[in-house]
Amino acid sequence: MAGKKPLSALIDDQFGPRAAAYVASAVHSSGPDLAWIAERAERARPQVALDLGSGGGHVSYAIAPYAGRVVACDLSEQMLAAVTETARAKGLDTLETRVCDVRALPLGDASVDFAASRFSAHHWQDLDAALRDCRRVLRPGATAVFADAVSPGTPLLDTHLQAIELLRDPSHVRDYAIEEWVAALQAAGFALQEVKRFRLRIDFKPWIERMQTPPDRQRAIRSLQAQAPQEAATHFDIGEDGSYTLDCAGFEVRAV
Ligand SMILES: C[S@@+](CC[C@H](N)C(=O)[O-])C[C@H]1O[C@@H](n2cnc3c(N)ncnc32)[C@H](O)[C@@H]1O
Repeated sequence: MAGKKPLSALIDDQFGPRAAAYVASAVHSSGPDLAWIAERAERARPQVALDLGSGGGHVSYAIAPYAGRVVACDLSEQMLAAVTETARAKGLDTLETRVCDVRALPLGDASVDFAASRFSAHHWQDLDAALRDCRRVLRPGATAVFADAVSPGTPLLDTHLQAIELLRDPSHVRDYAIEEWVAALQAAGFALQEVKRFRLRIDFKPWIERMQTPPDRQRAIRSLQAQAPQEAATHFDIGEDGSYTLDCAGFEVRAV
């Protein structure tokens, strides 16, 4: 079809103009998953740490106190400009940014001591290729942590979740199930250390506003929610206003 953009351009269109909203976002700037990642950085005390798909930079800010250097990577130049500005305001001078695709990191083999990624992998075009490149830049024995929304696994719940995610954001690719994550991590050369489950309440209004989802697609989400089978309504605890509870997981792995 003529005039269609590749996924990377769609992601840049979706996130670039919303950089300030992602820096300010309450869901992104706090949460038990962020603290869980920071604890692992504190334990690792890396010389060089990497934040894959940094968005507004909250993982980078959280791990910076424990790292010699943090490299925040993102496809969106505008997002990284906001990260540079915020890091400066926070007095963090060990944070660098790189505009890149996580499938082709501009870093040498075994040059990184710790990698983290949060709420980004569900946009990646090729999870396996991204995990392989992350493994390439990590030194053997280094820790990596990946946290993201996950599919509850059963087809009924999975279809509901991916449908509302795609309606909200056309650059959504997939919330993987925990089993899919574990298989992909192991295939990329990581040994699993821990899987931590989180549940996150998503407030409909800020969720929609942050992504500036157009009204027709907001209505489609509400319509799907209104007609959701009882199993989905209960699992996601769908509220009157469209708010719902999302399954998330963190994976701590070691490069082997
Ligand atoms: C929801 S934001 C990330 C939130 C952030 N990590 C946090 O914890 O607050 C998703 C980010 O992933 C980035 N992204 C998506 N696909 C990417 C890719 N293939 N390579 C690099 N960055 C990517 C987007 O540009 C966007 O800034």
